[in-house]
Amino acid sequence: MIDSAAPAPAPAPAGVPTTDAPPVPSAPPFPHRDLLTIQGLPAREISVLLDLADSYVAQNRKRDKKTSLLRGHTLINLFFENSTRTRTSFELAAKRLGADVINMTVQASSIAKGETLIDTAMTLNAMHPDVLVVRHPESGAVKLLANKVNCAVINAGDGQHEHPTQALLDALTIRRRKGNLDGLTVTICGDVAHSRVARSNIYLLNTMGARVRVVAPPTLLPPAVERLGVTVFHKMTDGIGDADIVMMLRLQSERMAGCYIPSVREYFRFFGLTYEALRAAKPDALIMHPGPINRGVEIDSEVADDIKRSLILDQVELGVAVRMACLDLLTRARRAG
Ligand code: CP
Repeated sequence: MIDSAAPAPAPAPAGVPTTDAPPVPSAPPFPHRDLLTIQGLPAREISVLLDLADSYVAQNRKRDKKTSLLRGHTLINLFFENSTRTRTSFELAAKRLGADVINMTVQASSIAKGETLIDTAMTLNAMHPDVLVVRHPESGAVKLLANKVNCAVINAGDGQHEHPTQALLDALTIRRRKGNLDGLTVTICGDVAHSRVARSNIYLLNTMGARVRVVAPPTLLPPAVERLGVTVFHKMTDGIGDADIVMMLRLQSERMAGCYIPSVREYFRFFGLTYEALRAAKPDALIMHPGPINRGVEIDSEVADDIKRSLILDQVELGVAVRMACLDLLTRARRAG
């Protein structure tokens, strides 16, 4: 258990149960059918989600992890892109809450015969799922799909746009180690241009009062990135100077059309996270990465595996709790009705 030094979980807020008893909140703590973006979510709703996720961390560390909160509910994982962490953790989260889970394999579905995204969504909707978890390579595709169904839809990553549950699990990971997000300096390093993880994190961290920096070569930054509320650096030691959190990003070569870096070797030399570069950060700075990591490309193996500083596996663990909280909150109206 990597974060054994973590502060005790915050108590669940009023109206947020910690057991599998059917909740009857007086006012919905998270008044949304879907979770498509972090942009636009107020701090209050982000905190409700993180507080509830905190309570699920303890459940996930018990021998018997299963409850019946979502008994009779069905979740469909519909992933048009590869995934290890997100897909598996949504499946685990739903099963630990007692739901049935279907994992659609896009390559083995009628999409391979030419069925459109919308027809696929409407077909699945006709089978009365309660939650659709969707990952798609095109920005905006998950919202388009959500408009055509009447169940809850969770964006598991759409193109370069957003990956909301990743930002939430990153926030929970930071909060459990540092106590809160307000006032922290978080530096996001690497391929910001192609990263939905970076975008969701920038929105969330700004909303929760953190100072956000980005470090990358100009070719790996989106146009006018400053308008997202970040300070831009092009040198690692400048960008991570006095940072509390150093968040590394993978080079998203599957989204690159053209040449963005001279070579991987040169990229690692100037933008890879090594112990030498890390010396610029605060002595207690912690390292994060959404995964999958590319060792020797954006992060040195020794740094990634440093159990005192690297939170990479904590992020994976807390991802299950965050997804349980999302499923719990997004199904409350159905459960009450
Ligand atoms: N961080 C993340 O989204 O990982 P996967 O692609 O494995 O789901």
